[in-house]
Amino acid sequence: MTPERAGEQVRPYEPAHGRAVRRVTAGAIRRRKGTPFPIITAYDAPFASFAEAAGIDVILVGDSLANVVLGYDETTPVTLDAMIHHSQAVVRGTTRAHVIVDMPFGSYQVSDQDAVRNAIRLVKEGGACSVKLEGGGMEAARIAAIASTGIPVMGHIGVMPQTAGLGPGYKKRANRERLLEQARNVEAAGAYAIVLEVVDAEVAAEITAAIAIPTVGIGAGPHCDAQVLVLHDALGMYPQSPPFAKRFAELGTAATNALSDFAREVRDARFPQQ
Ligand code: KIV
Repeated sequence: MTPERAGEQVRPYEPAHGRAVRRVTAGAIRRRKGTPFPIITAYDAPFASFAEAAGIDVILVGDSLANVVLGYDETTPVTLDAMIHHSQAVVRGTTRAHVIVDMPFGSYQVSDQDAVRNAIRLVKEGGACSVKLEGGGMEAARIAAIASTGIPVMGHIGVMPQTAGLGPGYKKRANRERLLEQARNVEAAGAYAIVLEVVDAEVAAEITAAIAIPTVGIGAGPHCDAQVLVLHDALGMYPQSPPFAKRFAELGTAATNALSDFAREVRDARFPQQ
């Protein structure tokens, strides 16, 4: 049953009673410019709580949800409702982390109005603290429209997985002028930080020096202000991971071994014990 507080329905993503919720703000993240900090993706309550327990206070509910959780080859098919569903779980699993939620493909391209409406859904229904969207061209107008409602926006340039499979591909981006222009557009539109995905390390360093908001690198070298990794890559949950993603554990193998032990013990009638 949905709990009630002061006669009002509690929003469905709120954590259980008794836990104080005070989240890191987008403004606080912006002020981290120049101080390295980690961001990790998460898609459910337990892994979000592991991240928070590890001292990671910025969590991205990435649309990589499509690839690493839902079994798609690309991020393109994931829906706004799916993002809301997983955002709710991440928010329920945390009390302090700033939860960024990706705006999925199709949720911000059509018009400013549509983008604002969908960003509001991510905040109101999903519990997002901020939203992220891809692109530094016409998307700057979307960033400005969303930011004008008070919803903080993170930008994302370089490899943009939502459209990479439709033509541009996933190779490293190194067009200095274009990337610098996009980063400046995103900053001028009011974003509080920007992801640089698979960008040449020297260009990423130049962008980091050129703009006042934190850059968040993924496969963009060591000179970005922050680094983000996809949870399943960082924890080694799949046999393959991108070359830039360090595997800090081998959870895929650990899980398979644990489940083999369980299966063997059931077949051998050793579990449960008499
Ligand atoms: O969806 C995602 O996980 C992302 C990161 C790769 C930055 O956008």
